[in-house]
Order: sequence, then C-alpha cells, then structure tokens
Amino acid sequence: MTRPAIAYAADAESVSEAFTLHNSALHAEGVSLDTLADSIGTPVYCYSRAMIERQYRRLEAALPEGSLIAYAVKANPNLGVIAALARTGAGADVVSGGEMRRALAASIAPDHIVFSGVGKTVTELEAALAERIAQLNVESEAELHMLSAAAVRAGVNAPIALRVNPDVAAGAHTKISTGRREDKFGIPMARVHAAADLARTLPGLRLQGIAVHIGSQLTSLAPMERAFAAMGDLARDLRGAAHTIDTVDLGGGLGVLYEPGEADPPSIEAYGALVRRVTRDWAARLIFEPGRLLVAEAGVLLATVILVKEGEDRRFVVIDAAMNDLLRPSLYNAFHDIRAVRPTPTRFTADVVGPACESGDTFARGREIDAVQAGDRVAIMTAGAYGASLASTYNSRPLVPEAMVHGTEWRIVAKRVAVESMIDLENVPDWD
Ligand code: LLP
Repeated sequence: MTRPAIAYAADAESVSEAFTLHNSALHAEGVSLDTLADSIGTPVYCYSRAMIERQYRRLEAALPEGSLIAYAVKANPNLGVIAALARTGAGADVVSGGEMRRALAASIAPDHIVFSGVGKTVTELEAALAERIAQLNVESEAELHMLSAAAVRAGVNAPIALRVNPDVAAGAHTKISTGRREDKFGIPMARVHAAADLARTLPGLRLQGIAVHIGSQLTSLAPMERAFAAMGDLARDLRGAAHTIDTVDLGGGLGVLYEPGEADPPSIEAYGALVRRVTRDWAARLIFEPGRLLVAEAGVLLATVILVKEGEDRRFVVIDAAMNDLLRPSLYNAFHDIRAVRPTPTRFTADVVGPACESGDTFARGREIDAVQAGDRVAIMTAGAYGASLASTYNSRPLVPEAMVHGTEWRIVAKRVAVESMIDLENVPDWD
C-alpha cells in the first residue's frame, strides 16, 4: 500500500498529519495558511487532499477485501472533496436528491451509490431508480409501499436493504445517536421479518440486504460490536426464512480526536479488526458509510482576528468566522482546537467568539490560546466534517468559501458568494 507523503518539511512540528508548522507558520501540506488567507480572504475552509486519501486507504486496508466504502456525503458535500474520494475508489452514501446529484457530478458510479434516509420523497425515489443506484436503504413499511409504486411506474426492480433499528445506545451525543428505540431511524428489530415478508409481496422490490447505523462520533467499539452481532443474527434468520441477504451495510460513525490530550478514539485498524472478526462467516458483501473519519482531520477553518475585546471579567477574541460557518460548537458544545497560524511567544486565556448576534456564537470558552492580536490568523482544527456542510447564511453572511491543497498547490473548491447574488435570489412583492 502506498501512502501519500504528508510531512512536507523534515523540521516540521506536526500539529495533525496534514497541518504542520514550518518556518514558524502553520501549513496545509506544502502551502502556508497565511498565503491562502492572503489570496482568498477569510473565513475560508482549507482541506488537505493527501489527508483525505490517507484516511481512505487506511480504512480500505483495514476492512475486509471487496467491501464498498460509501462516503457519507453529508459530512462534506464539496465536489472537490467527493472527487478526491472518488479517485481513490470510494462510493457514496447519500441522503437527498441533491447529494446524489453531487456524487454523480463528482464521477461516483451509480453502482457505488447507496441512498439512506428516513424521509425520501417520491421525486427522490424516482431519481434514484432512474440512475440505477446500488441500493436504497428503506427505513419503514410506509416507504416500502412508496418505493414499490415508484418502481412499478418506472418498470424496474428496486434493489433494497432494510435499515434496522437495533435499539443500541451508541454513547454518542444525543443529537447524533440514531440506533435507540426512541430514535426516528430504521425499522424496529421486532418488525424486520414482517417488513421483509411485505417487501416480498410488493411488486417492484428486490430485497438484497440489511443496514444499520447507530450514531456518529462513536468513541467506543462496544456498541458497534453489539449492533453488528445483531445484524449477523438477523441475516441468518432472514435467510432461514428464504430471504436473500447479499449485502450488509454497517453504517459509519467511527469518531475522531477533537481535543488534544483526550483519549484516542478506537483506531481504524481496531475497527477493521472488529469488523473482520464479527463478520467472518457472513458470506455477504459489506458496505460502510463513513463520513467524519475520512474528512474531519483533513480540514481547518481559517479565520482572522478582528479585534481583542477586554470584557468586564473575560477577554474575547473576536474572529471573522461565526456560528453560521461552523455550527458544531454552538449546536453540540463541540470542542475544536484553535491555533494561531503564527504561534506567539506568549499565551492567554480567552473566549474565542464570532461576530454573530448570539451568545452561542462561541468557538471556545475560557481557553488558553496563543496571545493573538487584531489581524492575526487562527485555524480552527478538525473542521473538515460537518463544518462547511452545516454552514448557513445567518446574519446575511455569505456561505463560507472552501479551498483544497495538494502538495504545494491549492485551488478554490467553493467560491466566495457575493451578498448581491444572495439578494438577487429574493423578491419584493409588487403589491401596493
Ligand atoms: N450513515 C448514516 C445513515 C448517517 O446518518 C450518518 C451520519 C453517517 C452514515 C455518517 O456518520 P459518520 O461516519 O460521519 O459519523 N452533524 C453532526 C453529525 C451528524 C451525523 C449524521 N449522520 C456532527 O457535526 O457531529
């Protein structure tokens, strides 16, 4: 297995593997983040292609041969990012017609695309059937009926898997746990047999597998092992009832390290070993839907300090990125490491905040960071997943642009949007 070189300077002090200090400045691969900020302006996301490829290759090597690694596009739907993964051989896990269009536009073959989601519309089902994608993961009996009708109209047989709710608490943040009985996802285990029988009687459906995904940012393998083992039992039982189970989709969810010094999440290799052990005698093609694992560490959000404000009892470092650009700290209290692009000799304690008009627009509270000043650049680390993809235009701040680095080259992969073009989409009614 060849791994792309990531360290660009022998004297580099490694920050993450893609982002290193070189000549006293933080670099993405071989490009200084100062150069990027000068050229593109801030805020801007910056992704390392080598890091994305490296993560994919590690995962591919760890998982059983022949597995389909369907990148969960929701983690980062940028075309450049999907295309980087497509080059390595990845498929795509999509949850909307828009994500499917993006995967196809980035040259992912339809037979490498899996469509998940609890509420696919008739239009989306029809589009997926028209593209002849590999698999639709069906999440309810109601959806079986909708899909059957769409398939009959289109004159095709829809390749389906039943997404199961295994009632396993993943131990993740409650907003991103998906496999508990009270969560909206999947068909309850007790009804899967009946759903499979229903699929057999409905025209236009071809049951080929089962699927599970219990949550995201998982930092323990134990709940995955329980869910995977339950899938093995289920596959055996369904086959016993003369159903075909050729594919088992084990979802995504493996976590990454956000906070330096915290315990490392399970390694890709440990995850792969678990999968190999549990699935050894399944005789099924395995599908995986990793998102965060592939792209989180490959991205930073680059911002400029607007000013440092001394409050009554706190110091505020106000940067030009806001919660609309990176929502995770506001939404999940998520920790993201924050580094000065040019480390300073001294450090201080500060709240790092954006300019948006909400107290929740806070990236870090009471954090010891480099003693930055107005005009200095900072990098918010581990922002490649669920960063740009959750961005909005709140406070009429245009969608944040994105750049990708490859060795010593870089390209803009999402342009900065002008406020005028946002206003152009709107209309003042011509009523008196
Ligand atoms: N498959 C399904 C069916 C999913 O719902 C998800 C994520 C994935 C795969 C990919 O999971 P991953 O490997 O990335 O953990 N916005 C949140 C994360 C939401 C995850 C939603 N579903 C965050 O920023 O932490």
